[in-house]
Amino acid sequence: MTPADVEALGDLFQANDTRETRRQFSPFALDRAVARRLLEPPHLDRFFGGWSEGRLMAFGMLRGWDEGYAVPSFGLLLDAAARGRGLSQAMVAFGLGLARRLGCNEVRATVNASNLPSLRMLERAGYRERSRVPVVVDGEPDEKLVMVCLLSDHA
Ligand SMILES: CC(C)(COP(=O)(O)OP(=O)(O)OC[C@H]1O[C@@H](n2cnc3c(N)ncnc32)[C@H](O)[C@@H]1OP(=O)(O)O)[C@@H](O)C(=O)NCCC(=O)NCCS
Repeated sequence: MTPADVEALGDLFQANDTRETRRQFSPFALDRAVARRLLEPPHLDRFFGGWSEGRLMAFGMLRGWDEGYAVPSFGLLLDAAARGRGLSQAMVAFGLGLARRLGCNEVRATVNASNLPSLRMLERAGYRERSRVPVVVDGEPDEKLVMVCLLSDHA
C-alpha cells in the first residue's frame, strides 16, 4: 500500500473499530490518523491490501523493522463483512511470500488463544507456537501466543 491508499485504509479502520475487533487486533488504534501515519514514507514496515471491486477489504502487514526488530511480525485485519470467506488464507500466503522475497528466514505473529479463526489460519499456513503467556484482554483471562513460521520449511 502507498500514501494513495490512506483514505481507503482509514475507511477500513473506522468501519472495524468495534470492541470485538479491538479485542483481537490491538497493535494500534483503528482510526484515520493511524492510517495516515502507517502509510506515510519513509518506513521499512510493509503494508498490503486485499481489494474487491475497488474497496479495501483486508489489511495485512509485516512490521517491526521500523522499531529495529530483525524478524517481522505479521498482522491481518479483514473487514467484518469479508470474514469467513477464505480471503485470510490468500493474505497470509501473500505475507509469507513477501517476507521470503525480502530475504526473511522467519515471520512472527502474536495472537490471543481465544482467536480461533486466526489461530487456525496461522497454523494452516505453517506457523507454530513458540511461547504463550497469560494475559487479561478486555477484562477477561486469555493467553497471548507468539507463533513463528520458518520460511526455510517452505521450499
Ligand atoms: C482473523 C481473521 C483474519 C480470520 O479471517 P476469517 O476470514 O474470519 O477466517 P476464516 O473464517 O477463513 O477462518 C479461518 C479458519 O478458522 C476456522 N475457524 C473459524 N472459526 C472457528 C472457530 N470458532 N473454531 C475453530 N476454527 C474456526 C475456519 O474454519 C478456517 O479454517 P479452515 O481454513 O481450515 O476452514 C479475521 O477474522 C479478522 O480480521 N479478525 C479481526 C482481526 C484479527 O483478529 N486479526 C488476527 C490477529 S493478527
